[in-house]
Amino acid sequence: MTESASRKILAANWKMHGSKAMLGAYVARLKPVEAVELVLFPPVGYLGLAAELIGKMAPFVALGAQDTHERETGAFTGETSAAMIADLGGRYVIVGHSERRRYAHESDERIAEKAVAAFRAGLQPVVCVGETLEERTAGMAQTVVKRQLEAVAKALPSADYARLIVAYEPVWAIGTGRSATSAQVEEMHAFIRQARESALGSRTLSTVLYGGSVSENSAPGFFNLGSVDGALVGGAALDAERFVRIAELLRTAKC
Ligand code: 13P
Repeated sequence: MTESASRKILAANWKMHGSKAMLGAYVARLKPVEAVELVLFPPVGYLGLAAELIGKMAPFVALGAQDTHERETGAFTGETSAAMIADLGGRYVIVGHSERRRYAHESDERIAEKAVAAFRAGLQPVVCVGETLEERTAGMAQTVVKRQLEAVAKALPSADYARLIVAYEPVWAIGTGRSATSAQVEEMHAFIRQARESALGSRTLSTVLYGGSVSENSAPGFFNLGSVDGALVGGAALDAERFVRIAELLRTAKC
């Protein structure tokens, strides 16, 4: 499933956290939040169970995986294809998270192939981009994000590139309690929109999320920026009540 218009999305990236018990308790505490799409990214092994538990809440809670392999099938031990994610009930997939770039040494080109695989399987990819602290300090933040976006733009047909969801996650803000400032986010989101529009040669209503130490305290500062459509939340989204509270902040924000 793909969308072209920007919309409010609050996503929970559980990373390598959780258990069957936690998933059950979490889903029981989720509440619909008007005009906000909640997307859960549990570890892929829990995706099938999550789909069962979500049940009737499916219209307002979607599911996704934190990564996919770029190939459709084959001898790739330990990997999960985009078609398998869809088969398990996933509608979204994160590709290019900085933890994959760092620990699994994923290149821009490989990440782009994963985005292609996601669209091929009917999933909505959420491509993460963002600079390290060293890159920001060196004045390279926009150069890095541009390079990361260009690899995806090169690999995708423009209709898919227009529908891509981008999450700006500055690496130095992830799990550090030190989120980016509103000015930094505003500037980078405007840059991302502009880079995409110039690659596409047209205006696009694409969805751009922010991620990096989003909490109840930091969220309003981002959600009230016109350029932020929602967030990809890590630590604070491991607690269903906190996740719903942040979603409420998104609902009432002017973005
Ligand atoms: P934190 O919210 O824990 O900083 O994690 C952000 C993130 O990496 C979401 O993908």
